[in-house]
Amino acid sequence: MRKSCRVAVLISGRGSNLKSLIENAANYEISLVLSNNPEAPGKTYAEAHKIGFEAFRRDNYKSVGELKAAIRSRLIQENPRFVCLAGFMLIVDQETIEQFPNRILNIHPSLLPNFPGLDTHERAVAGSVQRHGCTVHLVDRGVDTGLIVAQAGLDVRTGESAAELGARVLALEHQLYPWVVNNLAAGNIELSDGNVKFSSVAKEEAERRGFLLP
Ligand code: GRF
Repeated sequence: MRKSCRVAVLISGRGSNLKSLIENAANYEISLVLSNNPEAPGKTYAEAHKIGFEAFRRDNYKSVGELKAAIRSRLIQENPRFVCLAGFMLIVDQETIEQFPNRILNIHPSLLPNFPGLDTHERAVAGSVQRHGCTVHLVDRGVDTGLIVAQAGLDVRTGESAAELGARVLALEHQLYPWVVNNLAAGNIELSDGNVKFSSVAKEEAERRGFLLP
């Protein structure tokens, strides 16, 4: 087991993806969890695994920009190989993206480019789509617009509610995100500007597990 790849995770709330990233870490270790929400329920997962949790309270900064700069400074100090956003509700600023080129990932609950932004399951149901799912992508300046790394999809059931659909997609997220990070850490997925490459091992495993690669 190779654990030299340190990963920082940024959360704002529930933290179920953080939990899955912690529990399925084979080739990486989560060294730090940061949050803009001191009360984020997900912090209990960090605490239970003795992973440092640090919160950046909005009231302590003159502006959101200053808060983001503080998070950026802490990340620079930590220097993780990857930064994983997992339900992090702030838009990452350009300076932070430039500090960690091709190293900031996000999980989004839709098959991008469909349904960027919020309320993806509600919009999927309202739009009567047949396929829905989740996407791990690189973070760029836009909202959910960065390079797609991998996706996991499912068939939407007739009459399924947004909540039911969301729960099924969340279960896929919990599989997909650690799979991507483990394979990045192992060098089976390589990210460079505008490009993602997969080893044959990663391709075979993705096919076996039903993950979609770009
Ligand atoms: C997930 O659906 C994720 O895709 C989205 O925000 C939600 C976070 O859930 N970005 P959790 O905090 O990981 O449980």
